[in-house]
Amino acid sequence: MADLDDIRDGKNYGVGVAQSCGGFFLKGSSHLDWGMKDRLSRIFNPVTGKTVMLAFDHGFIMGPTSGVERIDLSIVPLIEHADCLMCARGVLRSLVPPTSRKPVCLRSDAGSTILTELNHNVVIDVQDAVKLNASAIAVMVAIGDRETEAETVANLYQAVDEGQAFGVPVMGVTAVGKDMARDARYFGLASRVCAENGANIVKTYYTEDFEKVVACCPVPIVIAGGKKLPELEALELAYKAIQSGAAGVDMGRNVFQSDKPAAMIQAVWAVVHKGLSPKDAFQMYNDL
Ligand code: R5P
Repeated sequence: MADLDDIRDGKNYGVGVAQSCGGFFLKGSSHLDWGMKDRLSRIFNPVTGKTVMLAFDHGFIMGPTSGVERIDLSIVPLIEHADCLMCARGVLRSLVPPTSRKPVCLRSDAGSTILTELNHNVVIDVQDAVKLNASAIAVMVAIGDRETEAETVANLYQAVDEGQAFGVPVMGVTAVGKDMARDARYFGLASRVCAENGANIVKTYYTEDFEKVVACCPVPIVIAGGKKLPELEALELAYKAIQSGAAGVDMGRNVFQSDKPAAMIQAVWAVVHKGLSPKDAFQMYNDL
C-alpha cells in the first residue's frame, strides 16, 4: 500500500500561465511521436539543429577499403568527436564499444557490393535495429535505376512502416549509380521521392544549386562527403552544404582517409555547428 503519511495538497498550479507547447526544432518533424523525436534529438543537436555523422558503413559494399581496414584502430578513436555513428550491424556488434554512448544510424539494407554495382537489396528487420538501440535506420534508394528503382523504393516504404511501428526514424540514402546524373535536378527529385515515401532524414550529395534541393525537401538533408578530397576542399564542401541549408554531414572517406582524421572531424564539426569558414576550419585542422 502507498505511504499515506503527510500527503500534501498541490499549490503550484500555474493558473493563468499557458502551458508551453514545446515546438520541435527539426524541419518536418513536428508531428512525429515522442519516440521518434527523442531519437532524432540524439542524432541532431537540438541547439544547432545539425549533426556530424561519422560514416563507416563502406565495408559492407566495398570491403576493407582504405581507412576502414581496422575499425578498432582507425574509427574507434574518432567516435568521441562524432554526433552520430553510421555503420552496418556486423561492425557495430563486433567492433564498436557499446560504452561509446553515441546514437547509431544503422545501415539497414543489404545485397550490393562494388563487384555488381546496384543490386536487389533487401531490408533488415527493424527489430534487429531496436535490439541494437539504433536511433535511425538507413536504407538506400536507387532513383533512376531501371533495374532496382521500384524495389528500393519499396524497401524504403517497408522500412518506414516498420520504423513507425517502433518509433525508429528512417534515413533515405540516395544512391549514385554509374549512369546517374549528379545535379540539383536529380538530387532534388531523389531526395523528394525519399521524403514523400516517408523518410524522416535524407542523405544525398552536395551539388551546385543545392539550396533548391534543400528547399523542396520537407525533411532534414545531410550530405555524404563522397570521394576523398584535399582537406580544404572537403571543408569547403561541408561549408557550402550547411550554408545552403543542409542539416549536417554524413561523412566518411574525407575523415578517415585524411592524414589526420581526428583533426579533420573536429574541423568539420566546427564548420557544421559553429559556421566556421573553410579557411578558419583548415587553420584549425592544421593547428590540431
Ligand atoms: C555509401 O553508400 C555509404 O552509405 C557512406 O556512408 C556514405 O557515402 C558517406 O560516406 P562518404 O563520405 O565516404 O561518401
